Amino acid sequence: MLKILAFLFSLLGVFFYPTSADTTYNVVDLGARPDGHTDSTHAFLSAWAKACGSDSPATIYVPPGSFLLGRAFFSGPCKSNKVTLQIDGSLVAPSDYRVLAGSPFWLFFDEVDGFTINGGTIDGQGSSLWKCKADGKKCPDGARSLTIKKSRNIVINRLLLTNGQLFHLVIDGCENVHLEGVNVKTPGDSPNTDGIHVQSSSDVTILGSNIQTGDDCISIGYGATSLWMENNSCGPGHGISIGSLGRVPNEPGVQNVTVTSSTFTGTENGLRIKTFATPHDGFVNEVHFEHATMNNVKNPIIIDQNYCDGGCHGGASGVKISNVTYKDIHGTSATQVAMSFHCSPKNPCKGIILEDIHLSCEGHAAESSCSNAEGIVYGSIEPESCLHA
Ligand SMILES: *[C@@H]1O[C@H](CO)[C@@H](O)[C@H](O)[C@H]1NC(C)=O
Ligand SMILES: *[C@@H]1O[C@H](CO)[C@@H](O)[C@H](O)[C@H]1NC(C)=O
Ligand SMILES: *[C@@H]1O[C@H](CO)[C@@H](O)[C@H](O)[C@H]1NC(C)=O
Repeated sequence: MLKILAFLFSLLGVFFYPTSADTTYNVVDLGARPDGHTDSTHAFLSAWAKACGSDSPATIYVPPGSFLLGRAFFSGPCKSNKVTLQIDGSLVAPSDYRVLAGSPFWLFFDEVDGFTINGGTIDGQGSSLWKCKADGKKCPDGARSLTIKKSRNIVINRLLLTNGQLFHLVIDGCENVHLEGVNVKTPGDSPNTDGIHVQSSSDVTILGSNIQTGDDCISIGYGATSLWMENNSCGPGHGISIGSLGRVPNEPGVQNVTVTSSTFTGTENGLRIKTFATPHDGFVNEVHFEHATMNNVKNPIIIDQNYCDGGCHGGASGVKISNVTYKDIHGTSATQVAMSFHCSPKNPCKGIILEDIHLSCEGHAAESSCSNAEGIVYGSIEPESCLHA
C-alpha cells in the first residue's frame, strides 16, 4: 500500500514539479545537528560548496533548531546568480568568546552575486566578551556576526541578529543590497554592538528594521552612496549615524543618503553625523533626514565634527559637510539642547536646511547650539535655529 502511494506521489512529482526547481541542500543531510552543541561548521561549508557550485538556482536549508557554528568563510563567485540561504532555525556562535576572538569575523560571505538570506536567527553569544570588557580586562575586540563583502544583488529578509560580540551585520564593498525586516536585539549596555554597518557600498535599502542595541542602530561609514532607510525603529541604541569619518587619510565621501519615517526611543542620539577633528579629508553631501519621531532622545539632531573616541585630536576636521536637510522631525529631547551643529572651523557645514522641526524638552522649550554651521530655515522651527545664513 505504502509503495503504491509512494509511486503515485512520485508520478505527481513528475507532473507538477516545476522544471527549474531549486536544488535544495539541507544542512542536516550533510551532518549538521540541531542540538546547539555539535559543531556544524563543516556541514554548512559543504552545503555552501554544493549550492555555490550549482549551475542552477540552489537553496541551503537550515531547519528549526539551534546549530553551533565556528568561524565560517563562504566565498564566491558562485556559478549561478541565485543562491538562497533559508533559515528556519538559529545559527549560534560558541559561548566562549575566545574561540572567535582571533578573527574580526564570524560568518563571512565574499564576492557573491545574487544571494538571498530568508528568516532565522543569528546569535553571536557576545555576553562573555562584554563581561571581559566591562571588567576592564585586556580582551580582544570581538568578531562581527555577519559580514557581506564585495558582493552584488543581495537580499536579506526577516532575519534576527542577537547578542553580537561586536557589530551585527556589516555590508562592505557591495552594490544593490535590499534589507527588509532585519532586526537586532541586544542589551543597551553591550559595547560596540552596532546593529547594521554600511560602508564602501552603493544602492543599499534598509526597510522596517527594529534595532535595539548598545551602540549605533545603523552606522554609515566612508564610501557609502545612494542609501535609502525607511520605517526603521531604534532604541535602546546610539541612533542612526553617518560616521565616524576622518579616521584615515583619503576616505571616499558619503553621498545621497535618505533616512525617512524612523522612530527613536530612549536613544543617545537620533540623526547624527560625526567626524574626528583630524585633517583627513572626505565629505558628506546630499543627506535627507525626514519624518522622524523622537521619544526622549538625548541628542535628537546632532552634527559633531569634534568627535572623540578614546582620545581627542584637538585639530579641525578636514571632512566637508554640505546639503543636509532635516524635515518634519518632531518629539521630545531628553536634554535641553535638542539641535546641535558643531562643524569644523576649517570647513564650516554648508547648506543645512531645517523645515518643520518640533522638538521639546520635558514639556518646555528646548535649545539649539551651533558653531561654524550655515543654513536656512523653512516652516516653523522649535527650538529656534542658530544656523547663520
Ligand atoms: C540617490 O539614491 C536613491 C536611492 O536612495 C537612488 O534612487 C537615486 O538614483 C540616487 N540619486 C543619484 C543622483 O545617484
Ligand atoms: C512603511 O510603513 C508604512 C506604515 O506601516 C507602510 O504603509 C509603508 O508601505 C512602509 N514602507 C515601506 C517602503 O515598506
Ligand atoms: C549643495 O547644493 C547646492 C545647491 O543645490 C549646490 O550648488 C552645491 O553644489 C551642492 N554642494 C555639493 C558639494 O554638491
